[in-house]
Amino acid sequence: MTQLVTITLAAGKGTRMKSNLPKVLHQVAGKSMVQHVVDTASDLEPVNNIAIVGYKSELVKEETEGEIEFVKQEEQLGTGHAVMQAQDKLASFSGTVLVLYGDTPLLTVETLEELLAKRQSSNSAMTVLTTKVVDPTGYGRIVRDDNGQIARIVEEKDTSSQEAKIDEINTGICAFDSQLLVENLTELEADNAQGEYYLTDLVGILVEKGERVSALLTANHQETIGVNSRRHLAKAEKTLRKRICNHHLDRGVTIIDPANTYIDAEVEIGQDSIICPFTFLEGETKLGSEVVIGSQSRIVDSELGDGVEVKSSTIVESKVGDDSLVGPYAYLRPGSELAENVKVSDFVEVKKSQIGSGSKVPHLSYIGDAKIGQNVNVGAGTITANYDGQNKHQTVIEDDVFVGSDSTLIAPVKIGQGAVTGAGAVVKDDVEDGDTIVGVPAKSFR
Ligand code: UD1
Ligand code: CA
Repeated sequence: MTQLVTITLAAGKGTRMKSNLPKVLHQVAGKSMVQHVVDTASDLEPVNNIAIVGYKSELVKEETEGEIEFVKQEEQLGTGHAVMQAQDKLASFSGTVLVLYGDTPLLTVETLEELLAKRQSSNSAMTVLTTKVVDPTGYGRIVRDDNGQIARIVEEKDTSSQEAKIDEINTGICAFDSQLLVENLTELEADNAQGEYYLTDLVGILVEKGERVSALLTANHQETIGVNSRRHLAKAEKTLRKRICNHHLDRGVTIIDPANTYIDAEVEIGQDSIICPFTFLEGETKLGSEVVIGSQSRIVDSELGDGVEVKSSTIVESKVGDDSLVGPYAYLRPGSELAENVKVSDFVEVKKSQIGSGSKVPHLSYIGDAKIGQNVNVGAGTITANYDGQNKHQTVIEDDVFVGSDSTLIAPVKIGQGAVTGAGAVVKDDVEDGDTIVGVPAKSFR
């Protein structure tokens, strides 16, 4: 393989989205469209992964991660004009340039590898990825000559009524010999219905000069969808969700109803886990093996160990250790860390707290800014009163403590190892190891 430079076009506003957000920042399966594309590009290990940005370029740069070189297109004068902005970067480069569109998030690396291989084996100046669709509306049409060779691409707005019927379309993805690309970019003109410099005109220009131009017709038209509107976005979302579910199913995860399960692109799930319907696994969530996620759970940017069970609960930016049980109807807010064999069950809210192994918070509690040791039992209705109206304070509960039902622990406060609070205790002062305290205010006896 020759060396590769990838150029992702992401400068457009995306007028048809009717949005304040640049089109390429709209998300598909929890990841922006342009991020999908530059990630796929980076899997090809290019020497330079360039993204052309323009509309709200600062925002696009800020929101896009990876080793990307951003190049600004001040005015968006078309896809050809966008590629011209990277010309300087290509001056001393000799190899393949792959142009990708920031609004085709479902493309796979396999298809791109096929495209690059085809360009090289056919020794083409340019190879275009095409596909056949039932409804070609909105796409550039592929015009072939009498020998079936690709002759030019006609944009929708420039088609004759005959050309409009062509069902083979331009996906927008194309690979070039870098030098022939640079030489011919200057030949583009904006004499068309939209007054834009079309990258697609390079097909006709190169063919007329006698250069070899080829097409790779892919059967997988679903992965080449270009998202121009919210309808397309919804369609892309559905297709990608299905692909993600299939990926996990193939790796030994049971998904009871894939059509009603929403797993983001970056989520990892261990073998023999079971995902029940109406579950949302979002962001950088990682599940261990033999995990069961009960119906109607939402887990965001969290890490769950092996054998964890979650029922109808919400977990955000938290960690849950092996064999722990969360829910039904628990809410783990950011910074919650449950060790192994912990039980946080019905109507319990936990925030920025650590709960040690074997401990239980089974019913109707609020645990905030707390550090709870091992084998602690927190009775029903217990509250850590962590906020005095101005500042947040910590509650420490050491190992083997038994907190009686409906205790109110007024932070900052510490309950020593093995201590007991009676039902309804309002605990204002620290409790010594092994003490039992009852009443309001706390009175202690052995
Ligand atoms: C383009 C193709 C069309 C193809 C379709 C596939 C051209 C002229 N047409 O049409 O043949 O069937 O994609 O989805 O290439 N962009 C810039 N700068 C610009 C203009 C566009 O960076 O000046 C970016 C956009 O942000 C977008 C991509 O290029 O990510 C494609 O632009 P878009 O306007 O969506 O092109 P289409 O009309 O869909
Ligand atoms: Ca498009």
